[in-house]
Amino acid sequence: MKNALCLTVLMVVLLTSCNNSKNRVLDTAQNNIKKQDTIHPGKKLMETYCYACHDATTSEDKRLAPPMIAIKRRYIFKDTSKEEFITDMQNWIKNPTEKDAKMYGAVRRFGVMQKLPYPEDVIDQIADYIYDYNIEQPEWFEAHYNQNMKKKI
Ligand code: HEC
Repeated sequence: MKNALCLTVLMVVLLTSCNNSKNRVLDTAQNNIKKQDTIHPGKKLMETYCYACHDATTSEDKRLAPPMIAIKRRYIFKDTSKEEFITDMQNWIKNPTEKDAKMYGAVRRFGVMQKLPYPEDVIDQIADYIYDYNIEQPEWFEAHYNQNMKKKI
């Protein structure tokens, strides 16, 4: 009788703890989804509108343009405000010309970016995202970047 009681108690404890851990797993899964839902809308827009050429996964020799991280490094310095960066992006997108380009190496290699019709609010969101977030960077990027910096000195 004592044993049976013990067993029941044990079962109850096991079952509830099992349930609890299941709930915990569910909770974290839901939290993750929420986090992804609330991520900046500019990320998706950037992937849709810019990643055909500026993605972070295409290997260096097959690229159509520099990865977005290279643009971020070229355009944003310690004293660059978000407003300045957004204005720079808007100006470039409205009229990309060799004269205004800052990425001379990229222009030499790929030719000037073609003019594409992007809505202003889309560029606002994309630039806002690039400025505030750590964006993906290709594995080869850091070494390539340092190499180029050395060449410039
Ligand atoms: C069809 C390919 C293509 C797409 C799509 C594209 N770009 Fe580019 N972009 C290029 C190329 C090629 C270069 C490098 C040559 C240059 O700098 O003009 C470039 C360069 C740039 C530069 C640096 C300009 C400079 O030289 O100072 C910026 C900023 C830029 N792109 C922003 C964007 C943004 C933002 C998007 C998405 C809204 C985008 N691009 C979509 C091809 C593309």
